[in-house]
Amino acid sequence: MITKTPFDRREFIKTAAAVAGVASLPGFAFAQGAKVRIGLMLPYTGTFAQLGVAITNGFKLAIEENGGKLGGRELEYFTVDDESDPGKATDNANKLVTRDKVDVLVGTVHSGVEMGIVKVVRESGTLHINPNAGAGAATGALCAPNIFRTSFTNWQPSYPMGKVLADRGIKKVVTLTWKYGAGEEAIEGFKEGFTKAGGSIVKEMYLPFPSVEFQPLLTEIASIKPDAVFVFFAGGGAAKLIKDWQAAGLKGKIGLYGSGFLTDGILDAVGDAAEGIETTLHYGDGIETPKNKTFRLHYAKTYKLQPDVYAVQGYDAGLLLVAGMKAVKGDMSKKKELYAAMESAKIDSPRGAWTMSKAHNPIQDIYLRKVVGKENKVIGVAHKALADPARGCKMG
Ligand code: PHB
Repeated sequence: MITKTPFDRREFIKTAAAVAGVASLPGFAFAQGAKVRIGLMLPYTGTFAQLGVAITNGFKLAIEENGGKLGGRELEYFTVDDESDPGKATDNANKLVTRDKVDVLVGTVHSGVEMGIVKVVRESGTLHINPNAGAGAATGALCAPNIFRTSFTNWQPSYPMGKVLADRGIKKVVTLTWKYGAGEEAIEGFKEGFTKAGGSIVKEMYLPFPSVEFQPLLTEIASIKPDAVFVFFAGGGAAKLIKDWQAAGLKGKIGLYGSGFLTDGILDAVGDAAEGIETTLHYGDGIETPKNKTFRLHYAKTYKLQPDVYAVQGYDAGLLLVAGMKAVKGDMSKKKELYAAMESAKIDSPRGAWTMSKAHNPIQDIYLRKVVGKENKVIGVAHKALADPARGCKMG
């Protein structure tokens, strides 16, 4: 689904400026008075559809809570459903950047699609805020002054689970994920933490994205009998795995662990099959802070839905943009000041306050959570103030 721009802004500004004879004035007032063009490139169909919706909701909520404007300017949304399809990613990003001439591109969920966005915004210089996709390179080897992330790297929430499991005496683990960037990086992160703490991976299992043909793999897991299984799945695929795990009779026999995407946003869909599953993530529903409570109430009232980690990441993307735009009073031509303000922002997030690393990725606490009823309850902190190593980033 694509919202078309009603007119070509550059042409319009050029003409208006020529008429008024002010085109060469610094801080051209009309451009500042124009609406801020926000491009949302997210999945609204497919296995990650709900994630895209939650991010959009969170983003819009943050803007509304801040008066519905950015640095005094009104805004206009341009939306593209990226379908979590990496093959269409550069075309979709170009639609927003070249055709719709967005001032900021907010997206996406899928790491492969994110790589397409990164390519486009590195070339165009468009401000980019990534509210989910964990692709390490976006704030690693391909980091850039105009690229910001309000979520995590794939490494970040998985790495701490390695030590958590090793400390419990778990020695042999099977890993299972989709074979694509995010899955592979999440497993690498877990493996690094787990092997460093003395554990070993007995088998790495993969299936193509977004397949949910888990049955043969679960049969194999039952015959291997590992101490535990660590997975990366999210959205519809995660819900299916949890149900299949129970149906295969593995629940209660072999521990199922993962980064918290496994159990976020899907608890209503899986009934009691998720009860007791422990995961690590930078958010938990029951965080006992006034900020989280207010956020959850406001979100639930506005959207008639419970928020999840994706809603929080979208919300924080909104807060980050609000902070930057406030610093430059809506004048996006002041790129240096805008980026500096975003880089130094302290985001008062429902997950807990966080700051940006030099590579533009959150430095944040990773919680240990457990599913209790319909909640991802926080039962501890698996790693305090964890920063991604940002391998290969030359910035900062
Ligand atoms: C990703 O592809 O980077 C990704 C997708 C869904 C998640 C987390 C990461 O929940």
